Amino acid sequence: MNRILAKRQLAPEVVLLEVEAPRIQKRWKAGQFIIIRPLAESERIPLTIVDSSAERQSITMVIQAIGKTTREAVALEPGQALADLVGPLGEPATISSEQRVVCMAGGVGVAELLPVAKAFHDAGNHVTALCGARSDAYRILDEELRSAVDVLQWATDDGTYGFEGNVVQLLLSMAGPGTFSEGHVIGPIPMMKAAAAATRGWGLKLHASLNPVMIDGTGMCGGCRVTVGGEVKFACVDGPEFDAHLVDFDELARRNRAYREMEQEALRHQCRVGLSD
Ligand SMILES: Cc1cc2nc3c(=O)[nH]c(=O)nc-3n(C[C@H](O)[C@H](O)[C@H](O)COP(=O)(O)OP(=O)(O)OC[C@H]3O[C@@H](n4cnc5c(N)ncnc54)[C@H](O)[C@@H]3O)c2cc1C
Ligand code: FES
Repeated sequence: MNRILAKRQLAPEVVLLEVEAPRIQKRWKAGQFIIIRPLAESERIPLTIVDSSAERQSITMVIQAIGKTTREAVALEPGQALADLVGPLGEPATISSEQRVVCMAGGVGVAELLPVAKAFHDAGNHVTALCGARSDAYRILDEELRSAVDVLQWATDDGTYGFEGNVVQLLLSMAGPGTFSEGHVIGPIPMMKAAAAATRGWGLKLHASLNPVMIDGTGMCGGCRVTVGGEVKFACVDGPEFDAHLVDFDELARRNRAYREMEQEALRHQCRVGLSD
C-alpha cells in the first residue's frame, strides 16, 4: 500500500510523485488534500491532491522541498512506500458554473491550482489561469494547465518567460472591475493577501486556498486555526478554501512563522542516540 509508482522532477526542488491509493482515488474532489508521513520517523505534512488515475488506482502530488519532511518525501523513489497516507481531507473547492473565472497561483501553488482550474473548466466556466514562477526554469505543469483552461498567462519575477513581475501585477495589467465574476487564488501568503487587496471592490468573489501549519488534520489540535470575517475557523475541516476578502492574512503569516526556529533546528538536527563519541 502507498507504493510510489512514478516520480518526475518538474523544476529545481519540485517533484511529482504518483502513489498507489485506490480508495482516495475514487473519492477525492478538487481542492482536497492528504496528510502523509514519508518515513516511519517523519512528521506528518499536508499535500494537495493534484490528479488521479482510475486505471492505475493512483493519486498524484507535487512537492516542493523546503524543509525536513518535504526533503524526505522528494528523496523517495518508485517502488518505495510512504509510511502513511490519509485522505481525502478538507472541503472540496467551490465550483460554480457559467462564470468568467480567474485562477491565480504562484510557486508550487500552480500544481495545487491545476485540479481546481480543471474543475471550473469542466463545469462550463470560461477560465483564465495566471501563474507565477521565479524564472522560466521554475515554471511547472505548463502543458497540463494549457489543456485544462481557456487562457493561460505566466509571470516570472525576472521576466525570463511571459510577463515580468508577479501574478498580482499581471492581473492588474489585464483586468479590472467586472472583468471576472469569480476567482481562486493559491500560493505564498503575501501573494494571496495582495490578490485580495487588489480585487476588493471589483465585484469578484475570490476564494483563497490557505496553507496554515497542520498537525492532525482532523479539527482537534487547533494548529491550523485561521480568522475569517472575525470568526475562528480550522482550515483542515472548514477549509482549506475561504473567502479571500475576509481572511486575516497577517495573522496567518504570524502563525506560520511561529515554528520557524524549531523547523530550522529539525533540518540541522542529526540524531546521535546510540552513537558513541
Ligand atoms: C492544505 C495544504 C496543502 C498543501 N499542499 C502542498 C502541496 O501540494 N505541495 C507542497 O509542496 N506543499 C504543500 N503544502 C505545504 C506543505 O505542507 C509544507 O511545505 C510542509 O508541511 C513543510 O514541511 P517541512 O518539514 O518540509 O518544512 P518545515 O521545516 O516545516 O518548514 C520549512 C519552511 O517552510 C515554512 N512552512 C512550513 N509549513 C508551511 C505551510 N503550510 N505553508 C507555508 N510555509 C510553510 C516554514 O515556516 C519554514 O520557513 C500544503 C499545505 C497545506 C496546509
Ligand atoms: S490541523 Fe489540527 S485542527 Fe486542523
